[in-house]
Amino acid sequence: MIINSSKENIQKAADEIISGGIVAFPTETVYGLGADGLNPTAVAKIFEAKQRPSFNPLILHISSSDQLNDLVTIENDIVYKLINKFWPGPLTLVLTKKDIVPDIVTAGNPTVAVRMPNHPIAKALIDACGRPIAAPSANQFGFLSPTTAEHVEKQLGDKVKIILDGGKSNVGVESTIVEITKTEVFLLRHGGISLEQLTEVCNLVKVKVNNFDKPNAPGQLIQHYAPNIPLKFLSEISDGDIKGKKLGALFFKENNSKIKFEQIEFLSKNGDMREAAANLFFHLHNLENKDLDLILVETIESTGLGIAIMDRLIKATNTYK
Ligand code: TXA
Ligand code: MG
Repeated sequence: MIINSSKENIQKAADEIISGGIVAFPTETVYGLGADGLNPTAVAKIFEAKQRPSFNPLILHISSSDQLNDLVTIENDIVYKLINKFWPGPLTLVLTKKDIVPDIVTAGNPTVAVRMPNHPIAKALIDACGRPIAAPSANQFGFLSPTTAEHVEKQLGDKVKIILDGGKSNVGVESTIVEITKTEVFLLRHGGISLEQLTEVCNLVKVKVNNFDKPNAPGQLIQHYAPNIPLKFLSEISDGDIKGKKLGALFFKENNSKIKFEQIEFLSKNGDMREAAANLFFHLHNLENKDLDLILVETIESTGLGIAIMDRLIKATNTYK
């Protein structure tokens, strides 16, 4: 059930987490499905609710950088530079874990992903719990990420008792994930902090976006970020693909196509990439809610946050290839 984020309700949500339950809550990137990050049984409930086929590692959410030292060993000073610049915010750091972090959180990895969200309700919830909250995006495995409480309700409403409402997430795509070893920095997922922003702080970032997720690697693809209506790039369709179909469209800023659409959404009429990222999942949810046969999306220029947007769109279209 969606409830407002009054002080009492945040406490209620914290009590639910402390007693081993799961709660959906807003962050600036997307809504998270949270459980006590130090309680393995509670964390298992997240996988159950999301119907994840395997135990993918989760991000631990903290509300102050002091908490980081309880969870990880810091072996590279770049960590401090990144924290100073980007926390709280959409940057997740993958670091060597301490014993206190349960294996189910890291899927057996010696590293753990940690993030300090920049959202007052997320912060208040973590504070009230007094422990890190493990949280993936609050969607069913493979489907669209949620950027409003209603999006969470649509996919997980029957599985989560408490959905804290915090309005629309203003970054709108997931956090950027970087792994930091003693000597190197690897970018593992494009997200709310662009590669350009990262390289201003540490000039040697190696891009190592998971092979598993790479487009054009047949057989290795899994469903990801996909609406439940087929999605294709406008540039890749033929007349046969669209004939007789009820079509929706997602454009960047204007409609240059001659095709007739039942429903059109624009990411940013001003052509602002940040606004486009913030609205990406929101518009895809709007299209998914309409009675359409196919959604056509425009290719976005791959610079800055455009890389994160294209990453989500490529994975979503691959689902239907
Ligand atoms: O913005 C976000 O990051 C949102 C909000 C809720 O904070 N969370 C999110 O979580 O996107 P999720 O579970 O949907 O994605 C987490 C990603 C997964 O792709 C996972 O493989 C990666 O983080 N990850 C987690 N721990 C890792 C680790 N130890 N090493 C490498 N990758 C890791
Ligand atoms: Mg996710």
